[in-house]
Amino acid sequence: MAVNQALLREAQATGPTRVPVARPRLPSAEAVFPYLQKIDDAGWYSNFGPLLTEFEARLAGRFPAGTEVVTVTNATQALTLTLMAMDLPVGGYVVMPAWTFVATAHAVVQAGLRPWFADVDPDSWMLRPEAVTGLTADVREQVVAVLPVSAFGAPADLAAWRAFRDETGVPVLVDAAAAFDTLDDAALPAVVSLHATKVLGIGEGGFLATRDAALALKVRQLTTFGFQDSRESQVAATNAKLSEYAAAVGLAGLDAWPADRFRFLRAAQHLRISLIGQPEVRFQDGWGSDWATSVCTVGLPEGAAGPVAEALHRQGVDTRQWWGLGCHMSPAFTGCARGDLRYTDRLAGSVIGLPFSIDLDAAETARIANALQQALASL
Ligand SMILES: Cc1ncc(COP(=O)(O)O)c(C=O)c1O
Repeated sequence: MAVNQALLREAQATGPTRVPVARPRLPSAEAVFPYLQKIDDAGWYSNFGPLLTEFEARLAGRFPAGTEVVTVTNATQALTLTLMAMDLPVGGYVVMPAWTFVATAHAVVQAGLRPWFADVDPDSWMLRPEAVTGLTADVREQVVAVLPVSAFGAPADLAAWRAFRDETGVPVLVDAAAAFDTLDDAALPAVVSLHATKVLGIGEGGFLATRDAALALKVRQLTTFGFQDSRESQVAATNAKLSEYAAAVGLAGLDAWPADRFRFLRAAQHLRISLIGQPEVRFQDGWGSDWATSVCTVGLPEGAAGPVAEALHRQGVDTRQWWGLGCHMSPAFTGCARGDLRYTDRLAGSVIGLPFSIDLDAAETARIANALQQALASL
């Protein structure tokens, strides 16, 4: 027994390390240091100091003139507070895709509204306006907003959603949590995550981008105790501000972004090339060529996600079903209303997150490709 354990330890020590599903890289201490020095010099640590103001201005500079950016402690809170600021009738339905991370639904519930889970387009993995316009009249009457989600950072069809909003008058908020790279239009209010797992990570954080100045002001007020121009709470609110330290990391992240974006795209291209001989592995349209994201989610043959994940795991290659079996399957949301979710259910059984990171190396890329080839061959 003792010998076996020693052998096991030796194997663990000398065997190949696992390929992790993600390896977040935030700005180094060296890159953040000059900003920390500015905090020391100013003696201003939170409550909309100079670094946060600069960070928000630089984020807003990525959008057309007139766009307001409001930073928030995380994207879930940003979604919640924006829904609250939209003054929607309490208890109304917010139509959202079932194929999303649970945060989308949590935000809806926290804002006093009810998720209505709709199916996604099987190719783009995203909600289409037809999923809302096609609802029965009795459901449509109760819909107070729509919350489309950018799937893993892919650009959502914002033109189609704008047309939907203009034609129906139903407010649309975009959950663009992973779409820092592609989101450059805030004609519809949109929320981006700055979580450590995202391409521009600051640990925890998020922001709302909108051209609606009144909405931005309300969301800002909700992040700071309901204060606006005075220390009297005008509305029931919370504290969801970002500190100067978070802004320091964000500014260092923005400094590095052009180079980091290139590194994400380069790593993605290497992975795509290594999988060229495996047509059963389907990338999202434009993944790693038109847009950069921090995860690699691929479509496999129907029902293959589970068996392939197990086979990869045995070969030391980690995977993750980032959105599980779909948001509607989480115990917290099983009681929520929904339509026919056949495509979401199919995606849940066929999509897996492969290992991906900004510094994914050639050996890891080869291990992923080999493991995937063997796993698919053994199906
Ligand atoms: C689609 C989606 N919405 C919202 C969130 C929540 O973001 P945060 O972790 O910043 O709260 C995530 C996080 O990954 C997400 O994937």
